[in-house]
Amino acid sequence: MTDPLLAFRAEFPILERTTYLVSNSLGAMPRGVPERLAQYVDEWAERGVRAWAAGWWEMPVSVGDEIAPLIGAGPGEIAMLPNVTIAQTSVLSALDYSAPRDTIVMTDLDFPSVRYVYDHLATRLGARIVVVPSDDGIGIDTQRMLEAIDERTRLVAISHVLFRSAFIMDAEAICRRAREVGALVSLDAFHSVGVLPVDVKRLGVDFLSGGVLKWLCGGPGGAFLYVSPEASRSLSPSFTGWQAHARPFGFEPEMQYAEQAWRWLNGTPAIPALFAAIEGPRIVRAAGVDRIRAKSMRQTARLIDLAQARGFAVTAPLDPARRGGTVAFDVPHAYGVAQALLANDVIVDYRPNAGIRVGPHFYTSDVELERAVGMIESILRDEAWKPFEAKRGTVT
Ligand SMILES: Cc1ncc(COP(=O)(O)O)c(C=O)c1O
Repeated sequence: MTDPLLAFRAEFPILERTTYLVSNSLGAMPRGVPERLAQYVDEWAERGVRAWAAGWWEMPVSVGDEIAPLIGAGPGEIAMLPNVTIAQTSVLSALDYSAPRDTIVMTDLDFPSVRYVYDHLATRLGARIVVVPSDDGIGIDTQRMLEAIDERTRLVAISHVLFRSAFIMDAEAICRRAREVGALVSLDAFHSVGVLPVDVKRLGVDFLSGGVLKWLCGGPGGAFLYVSPEASRSLSPSFTGWQAHARPFGFEPEMQYAEQAWRWLNGTPAIPALFAAIEGPRIVRAAGVDRIRAKSMRQTARLIDLAQARGFAVTAPLDPARRGGTVAFDVPHAYGVAQALLANDVIVDYRPNAGIRVGPHFYTSDVELERAVGMIESILRDEAWKPFEAKRGTVT
């Protein structure tokens, strides 16, 4: 039976030229993006400054509305920001860390950029950071996580899917526990939205951030922040700016926060990135996240089978229910092998302590999986990784 999702391959030109298995890092560019960017250029050229009043100013929220159906959010509940690090900064800046609610709970497998800002900024604001450790470097024990959340917890700020291993955290249990003790939850959903079903209302999550550049095929510069209506009503980020003002063009000296997603914005938005961000989420919606997830579970299982048959170490959860969209192979000389794959137009990435990460998406064919694993095997057999290892460190 043919896979109906393969019909979407026609939307992504790079698939004609490469075996593109890196949607966990940068999703393929949709065919419609050049036209969107041309629209931006034309509007700038033709309308000049009047373009702001003709839709540009609203884009951080109107583009957010394109993402809302993918996470069960309502219109006006998502703010587009330049990156997830900024989104998380907005979140942490909205909270008070005075005792007895002075604690932020994280894990030692959260994305470093996010950890840096909590460790350096949140602690300056008075927060105590509790980091829940991992036993195996792949996942975090749910019970240990739940025990770390208590009456001292102000915020639980964790990844939904861990970037290194694609381990899916038990967000439902964590949100439930946080509610029981009166803590808020901020989920970094960079590795879930677009490849796993996510429903912010069912989870009851307070904040959820992610970006369009990976699984949503929307390019760099388009990150999103969902804030629950309750949190938007009761909280005001101190990291702010004029786009968050109720009357930005009044240029008033005193801050008066706008409502809903608007209050989480800051300065002038990066308009080209927002134009580029529109097409990908629309295609993902048309493909359907449930169908994408079903295919992803099947293809990641297939990848694991292919790898294990060749004796490659797999650093991904073996339980499909706990496994996101990426499978990492910790083969010998993984860095050099990854470079050799890239040189042969098999596009993957490499991460220390994980190995070669392979991220199939809805547009990936099974033949491409076989090609990639077969090529890893021949690169190892022929020692074709050697020239790349030799050059390692000489290029940035
Ligand atoms: C889970 C996760 N969070 C955060 C980031 C960093 O996001 P940004 O560069 O948009 O700040 C990444 C980047 O890959 C990530 O995988």
